[in-house]
Amino acid sequence: MEVALVVGDIAAQPDVDAVVNAANAELMPGAGVAGAIHRAAGPGLADECRPLAPLAVGHAVITGGHRLPNPYVIHCLGPVYGLDRPEAELLAACYRNALELADRHGLRSVAFPAISTGVFGYPMEPAAEVALGTVLATLEGLHSVTTVRFVLADDRALRLHRETLQRLTHPVGGAGKATEPATGAERADNVMKSRAHAGSKKVAGPWTVEATSLDPLAGDASPPGGGS
Ligand code: APR
Repeated sequence: MEVALVVGDIAAQPDVDAVVNAANAELMPGAGVAGAIHRAAGPGLADECRPLAPLAVGHAVITGGHRLPNPYVIHCLGPVYGLDRPEAELLAACYRNALELADRHGLRSVAFPAISTGVFGYPMEPAAEVALGTVLATLEGLHSVTTVRFVLADDRALRLHRETLQRLTHPVGGAGKATEPATGAERADNVMKSRAHAGSKKVAGPWTVEATSLDPLAGDASPPGGGS
């Protein structure tokens, strides 16, 4: 089983069976992820979504991918931070329901954005804890889904998810410690691989955990266009 972290566009993940949409209750195009997915999928996606709305917070539904390179889109409605409570349980339900839905459809790979961390205002760090903890725990009980990719908008989100994933897969005193590459080296080879072994309460392992930054300059203060 593999959990991968990348910086990229959720609508440009051609090698996964399903991408997850951070949807609105109406399942219509929106900003952020919902905009990117509907734009790439074309109007057929909204047509297919219409009879499936409204979506309840924490729930997930599945549609075709239309003009996306993926056969499926799984739409989740995350909690609005500070409004939909208990927010951690509702956010966890999104990830769990999406993965279980994918599994029931026999899918092998799913790419998630960081649900609720944009327009819905969920702070990235606690959201990452909920998202990764839920995915690791849920994957253990699935039959078909073996690969989960988190597609993150920038390097800061990648770092927070990587740190959280390391904490969850390498609990203090647990087996092995992932070697975090120095920032320079990390940017040079752009990849960090680690292995966690059985022995943690949350993770049955072994897991392959791969964090890749596709955009090594994201998050840098340097102005665009400088020297490239
Ligand atoms: N690919 C990957 N991640 C993205 C992309 C993209 N193309 N666009 C935005 N993100 C990131 C954001 O930076 C944020 O961290 O995805 C995360 C989720 O952001 P939103 O798309 O705003 O999702 P959410 O916070 O769940 O809010 C959902 O936003 O677009 C509206 O109609 C939608 O009302 C719904 C609400």
